[in-house]
Amino acid sequence: MSILKVARLGHPVLRERAADVEIGDIRAGKFRSLIDDMIETMHAYDGVGLAGPQVHLPLRIFVFEVPERAAKRRNVQQLGAGVFFNATYEPVGEAKITDWEGCLSVPFLGGEVPRHRKVRLKGIDHEGNEAEVVMEGFAARIFQHEIDHTDGHVYLDRMPDLTTLGYTIIL
Ligand code: NI
Repeated sequence: MSILKVARLGHPVLRERAADVEIGDIRAGKFRSLIDDMIETMHAYDGVGLAGPQVHLPLRIFVFEVPERAAKRRNVQQLGAGVFFNATYEPVGEAKITDWEGCLSVPFLGGEVPRHRKVRLKGIDHEGNEAEVVMEGFAARIFQHEIDHTDGHVYLDRMPDLTTLGYTIIL
């Protein structure tokens, strides 16, 4: 396994709509080592999600995990590591929650972002099968953030109030 280089804001790969992945390629195991590398990279940078464009791959893939330490720090539910391909989301209900968000492609910064409280994700799972899950709270936030990456959006685009943007480490 290896730690991948993370694209930072300003790199055009973060602003493109990424391409769908071929289901046959998933079933043939062509993404197995990439998934391992993306999960290792996410761990190395202490993230809870990582999308293809963030590792310079304009493909609709993202990985996620909320390990115990991150869950305790943010007072949210743990979430096991996983991957989705070609995912889209739609809101379930009207409710939105505003909470703090950061991004490995926008290092050292964070800001308050409103997100749908509950979303329905449709995509392809690690075996190449169609998957549909309804998630809420922090997991729903991660999915919205990562799917946004595969659409060429970053969380800054979703911030209605840039005065909440700031460095996470104040010297
Ligand atoms: Ni991000």
